[in-house]
Amino acid sequence: MTVAASAGEKILILDFGSQYTQLIARRLRELEVYCEILPYHAPKAALIAAKPAGIILSGGPASVHEKGSPRPDKYVFEAGVPVLGICYGMQLLVELHGGKVAPSKKREYGRADLEIVADSPLFADLPKHLQVWMSHGDSAERLNNGFRVDARTGSAPYAAISDETTRQYGIQFHPEVVHTPLGAKVLENFARRICRFDKRFTMAGLLESQVAAIKAQVGDGKVVCALSGGVDSTVAATLISKAIGKNLYCVFVDTGLLRHGDRERAEKVLGQELKLNLKVVDASKLFLGRLKGVSDPEKKRKIIGKTFIDVFNAEAKKIKGVSFLAQGTLYPDVIESVSVHGPSVVIKSHHNVGGLPKKMKLTLVEPLRMLFKDEVRRLGKELGISQELLGLHPFPGPGLAIRVLGAVTPALLSTLRAADLIMREELKAAGWYDKVWQSFVVILPSVRSVGVMGDGRTYENTVVVRSVDSRDGMTADWSRLPYDLLHKISSRIVSEVKGVNRVAYDISSKPPATIEWE
Ligand code: XMP
Repeated sequence: MTVAASAGEKILILDFGSQYTQLIARRLRELEVYCEILPYHAPKAALIAAKPAGIILSGGPASVHEKGSPRPDKYVFEAGVPVLGICYGMQLLVELHGGKVAPSKKREYGRADLEIVADSPLFADLPKHLQVWMSHGDSAERLNNGFRVDARTGSAPYAAISDETTRQYGIQFHPEVVHTPLGAKVLENFARRICRFDKRFTMAGLLESQVAAIKAQVGDGKVVCALSGGVDSTVAATLISKAIGKNLYCVFVDTGLLRHGDRERAEKVLGQELKLNLKVVDASKLFLGRLKGVSDPEKKRKIIGKTFIDVFNAEAKKIKGVSFLAQGTLYPDVIESVSVHGPSVVIKSHHNVGGLPKKMKLTLVEPLRMLFKDEVRRLGKELGISQELLGLHPFPGPGLAIRVLGAVTPALLSTLRAADLIMREELKAAGWYDKVWQSFVVILPSVRSVGVMGDGRTYENTVVVRSVDSRDGMTADWSRLPYDLLHKISSRIVSEVKGVNRVAYDISSKPPATIEWE
């Protein structure tokens, strides 16, 4: 008998609030399995519209036996597609089908040895013993008749369960984390063997479908786009321009807060190499004028955000008949993830161009809104964008303004630019630029210290070098740069940059510090 492939379009992940939900999606996409995340309470209509080939119920911090704990719409079990419950998701399968979940005698957290005791397609082509990662306070205690045990660990007799007739599978461990080394195979078995989802999600395919989608959305319309010169906006603009050519109008705003070479690189790479329809607007005087004397970090961000909108608005108005606005929004900003702790407090008001669309009554074109950052880089490569640009470190919208602590002046910016350039040059020369996630220099104008140069006393500024390793900027650790490299950076800065006589290296991680100093 040949097995028909699924007609579904994706694997759907319902998010019950686990910190690992995005990881499930990333692992699946690495396997070229297209997937999307919806909140656990997604209504039936949204579940139907998603056309899933299978549904994954994520983990989550709640207990299924608590009153009011999250439940999915019952359509999940009526859709006729396979369901995989992970951790909390598995406990839901047990609880909702007449079994029993109870608090474990001992909270299980960490590595465990999983012994596979039945022949399940979920564990096809895997050894009988697997190292897995457990993190749960509740366990299944009794299954209902339909479910059988597929695997156990020392402390979890029901570590994997299944009901082949309804095609429901539950696993108590986390296949998505690196501490379950063969976990990707479990996810692959679910998608390819059990859900029979055989479509491949590739960048070449995505490029083709996105170009067609943009053409269909925009037609002969005109699109305006704010280019920062960074990875996301460049990939978005290059993709759109492939679809609609010169009807895409790109605006690059020189805020006066850019690093050495940023504007020139934008003109060369975006304008000449990628042949985008580019206008460079020098608004540095306006930005620096409005920032004069302002030292509060949030006030600086607000002023920069508003000024950016003013400048961009004025440019957009000059384009006759423009009706679309392109943005390089990425998937992590789109996912309506579930937070059991409510909205988090604002530490820094990022995303300073978020106010653009409402004011301008333009329709959004967001071709990257379903992509993770690493996928954007791969799409960029497919579009022929250079590795040098795709490998650029993130650079914040407010630019150097949040790296001059306190009030910004042209003199401090110029000192900072010189030090920052030296750091980047040395990092690149030593082969470290591509190994770290983000690196930069901060200047501390209110700290002056005594030094000695030649025979003379100096009393000058301190700069701080910051370099961090991170996956997504949410958490970060300081990079263990070699001492010799730090020495080179420090001695060059002190001898070549006027006004700096001391260099410090920031060894704080995030949390409790943040990546930027303001
Ligand atoms: P923090 O300092 O919050 O930074 O640990 C995390 C990441 O975000 C960048 N960042 C910003 N990006 N506007 C931006 O566009 C901002 O106001 C802003 N503040 C921080 C930061 O460079 C790091 O990559």
